[in-house]
Amino acid sequence: MLDYTGADAVMIGRAAQGRPWIFREIQHFLETGMHLPPPEVEEIRIVMLGHLEDHYHFYGMEAGARIARKHISWYTKGLAGSAAFRRQMNMLLTAGEQLRAINEFFDSLGERDARLRYAEGNDEAGQSVEEALAA
Ligand SMILES: Cc1cc2nc3c(=O)[nH]c(=O)nc-3n(C[C@H](O)[C@H](O)[C@H](O)COP(=O)(O)O)c2cc1C
Repeated sequence: MLDYTGADAVMIGRAAQGRPWIFREIQHFLETGMHLPPPEVEEIRIVMLGHLEDHYHFYGMEAGARIARKHISWYTKGLAGSAAFRRQMNMLLTAGEQLRAINEFFDSLGERDARLRYAEGNDEAGQSVEEALAA
């Protein structure tokens, strides 16, 4: 699109929600024509936990935990097996519970693959058959 239109710049909004590393991916592609591999699970765990700590401090623990839900949802959208995690997440009330659940989820991601793995297709594609039937 940049080549076609000759635009000087591109604005990126929603695609950066839960995926703030998209900017380095785009920069890398524009510079090299190659796609970066998905980020490592451990890097994103640290990014996400840091973001949530900022949330709890800025909004207070209670509102922070509530507002954090949408970010947690964005961060995990499309990741293999994340649909059940998000359903569980939306029932948790406190920051401590959120952090524990995120760490458990990222432990399980890390056991499968050192890098984030997105499910093919739509957001619910990471569901198991049992999860889909229960939903
Ligand atoms: C999280 C987020 C942050 C944004 N920040 C800015 C900004 O700093 N400056 C600006 O002019 N527009 C900002 N926007 C607006 C979008 O960049 C702009 O409307 C863009 O066209 C959105 O398209 P997209 O969501 O399809 O990527 C932001 C939008 C979002 C969702």
